[in-house]
Amino acid sequence: MSLNVLIIAAGLGTRMKSRRAKVLHEVAGRPLIGYGLRTAWALKPERLFIVIGHQAEAVRAVIEEEIAHIEGDEAAAPQVEFIIQSEQLGTGHAVMVAKEALARASGSVVIYYGDAPLIRSQTIDELVRRHRQGGYAASMLTVMMDDPTGYGRIVRDEAGRFVRIVEHRDATPEQRQIKEVNPGLYCFEIAPLIEALDHLSPKNVQGEYYLPDVFTILQHRGYAIGLFPHDRADEFLGVNNRVELARVGARLRHQVLRALMLSGVTIIDPDSTYISADARIGQDTIIHPQVIIEGRTRIGEECEIHSWSRIVDSQIGDRVTVKNGCVIANSRLSDDVAVGPFAHLRMEAELAPEARVGNFVEVKKSRLGRKTKAMHLAYLGDATIGQRVNIGAGTITCNYDGRQKHPTFIEDDVKLGSDTMLVAPVRVGRGAVTGAGAVVTRDVPENALAVGVPAVVKKVLKT
Ligand code: UD1
Ligand code: CA
Repeated sequence: MSLNVLIIAAGLGTRMKSRRAKVLHEVAGRPLIGYGLRTAWALKPERLFIVIGHQAEAVRAVIEEEIAHIEGDEAAAPQVEFIIQSEQLGTGHAVMVAKEALARASGSVVIYYGDAPLIRSQTIDELVRRHRQGGYAASMLTVMMDDPTGYGRIVRDEAGRFVRIVEHRDATPEQRQIKEVNPGLYCFEIAPLIEALDHLSPKNVQGEYYLPDVFTILQHRGYAIGLFPHDRADEFLGVNNRVELARVGARLRHQVLRALMLSGVTIIDPDSTYISADARIGQDTIIHPQVIIEGRTRIGEECEIHSWSRIVDSQIGDRVTVKNGCVIANSRLSDDVAVGPFAHLRMEAELAPEARVGNFVEVKKSRLGRKTKAMHLAYLGDATIGQRVNIGAGTITCNYDGRQKHPTFIEDDVKLGSDTMLVAPVRVGRGAVTGAGAVVTRDVPENALAVGVPAVVKKVLKT
């Protein structure tokens, strides 16, 4: 009995009022479609069909990027096939365009929409189990929604037997009172599904082919259909507009935080903490209130991240302290590093073990060696800095001449006096010292003392 999955993600997302396709919008730091993909992976299907259309190229690129980052057994990964729905004529039409692809598969197909990121794979497993156990041609869950606005309503006869699903926009005022809705998760036997698709018609308010109509068609053709009431309606909150985007985002955010806490990360105030679903954080790390961790950031064990810091796509080792108010983007901090308060590290800033960066220091595209310190008010850009260097308060690498960026090299054991200006390109040799306020325009030899404006070598300290 082979299982396949089809995700419908070709729609325009009109209600988002966006220039970007709906499934590309991010929730908890990950594009919407990334969740549906991971759910599919968890089901271990044979094939995964993804119907795309609106902004197909961009959507496909993001899907491929997401797939590349799904963790787990590569051998168990499904065979992925993209299907283009060039005109979006409805959810039924999205499956119609996949007909040939489906015909090449066998067994059952689970279908859901790309805009419902909260659906759990366990729920789908359960649906598939009941679908197969009952020998149904088509099965779906139904849920009760206090506010069913926007959802397809389950219309039943007096005996409680399924009649049809009526979309919100097609529903009469009486039908709109129905609280039992279609959550948008289906399991079909492929052969009868294909048969039913030929009978879909767009006779409705929107002039679209509706996938839920397949249930009525199959029932009329004598097939057994299964409807299973399910009590976790929250799982099926979809994203149709930006209010729902925020609501669903909040739930996902709390799921992410909960998983981290259960894995051994202390999050002092989950209500004010934002951590991307793609971030990884090690045991016994403490996250203080109002911290934001974005993208594929990795943080090691026993770190402490203090309030008002934002960390984006960065790698942080073990026992690192990030003090208050730091912004760290695309950077790499090794074990036992301390930064902040109010430090800004960006564009591949790299801090070797035990390096320290303090108050109001910006580090851009620079590397600080082991035990090197820049504690106060400095700008270090395009610099390669050795070990045990002390960067005096107010030091600046003058890396930009108005046209081009130039590199600065500071070798091991250098001591830069306060307010040293390093006019790049320039090199300060090992063990050299600069006086306070030195403007270094030429290379300083090893172990030399350079002072003044422009700096001149006064003496060689030791040889
Ligand atoms: C759909 C269901 C509704 C259900 C609800 C659950 C239909 C007709 N209605 O309504 O019964 O209660 O989901 O959330 O299925 N899409 C395409 N191609 C198209 C049209 C849509 O790929 O031609 C995609 C959209 O991008 C979206 C998904 O299908 O991801 C669902 O479409 P949407 O318009 O959001 O359907 P709903 O109105 O939410
Ligand atoms: Ca929807």
